[in-house]
Amino acid sequence: MRPLRLGVLGSGKGSNYRAIQDAIDAGQLGAETRIVVSDVEDARILELAASRGVRARYFPPGKYRTRLEPDIEQQLADFLASEEVELVVLAGFMRMLKAPMIEAFPNRIINIHPSLLPKFPGMAAWEQALAAGEEATGCTVHYIDAGMDTGEIIAQREVPILPGDTASALHARIQQAEHSLYAEVIARIARRGEPDQTEFPAPSERGSGD
Ligand code: GRF
Repeated sequence: MRPLRLGVLGSGKGSNYRAIQDAIDAGQLGAETRIVVSDVEDARILELAASRGVRARYFPPGKYRTRLEPDIEQQLADFLASEEVELVVLAGFMRMLKAPMIEAFPNRIINIHPSLLPKFPGMAAWEQALAAGEEATGCTVHYIDAGMDTGEIIAQREVPILPGDTASALHARIQQAEHSLYAEVIARIARRGEPDQTEFPAPSERGSGD
């Protein structure tokens, strides 16, 4: 059976990508990483990919801070399509995706967010949860749509907030949960185990991969 082809986009240290690649290399995912792309030239995620024998490419993002220039986003979509990517995995990609990517990969872009959405969308969600005095928070894997962390929720995992927690201790605990949840969700998508995954080719339809 041919593995599901992933394109991973990240801007930072790539701990989620590492966990996904570990699961792929352990034969647990039914997926392969075709390409890792970053909008940050010296992002650790690019080094990490290269060190794992995965192709890595820097995509200069253009003049905006929170999104890609539309022409560049179209080039990115075309590039991922030319790589025959079937599922785009956002792993700490710090820009919002817009029409060029969303239209090229409808319901085929997933993200992981460090809160139990719809609570605490946006930046530093763990700090928001701490400040709000919550007893628990967590992480969410969701599809990308045109909004900020508003796409359909695929899976969530709860993480307790402990007495005396600091922001960094809480973030580290959430990230541990992220690492297992993200790999589990991708494995499920690759197996087409969820009713809402009908648009993904089933393993039997994916054939041998020539
Ligand atoms: C994760 O905490 C994720 O929730 C958020 O960005 C962070 C990326 O971390 N979307 P890493 O680069 O995977 O370590």
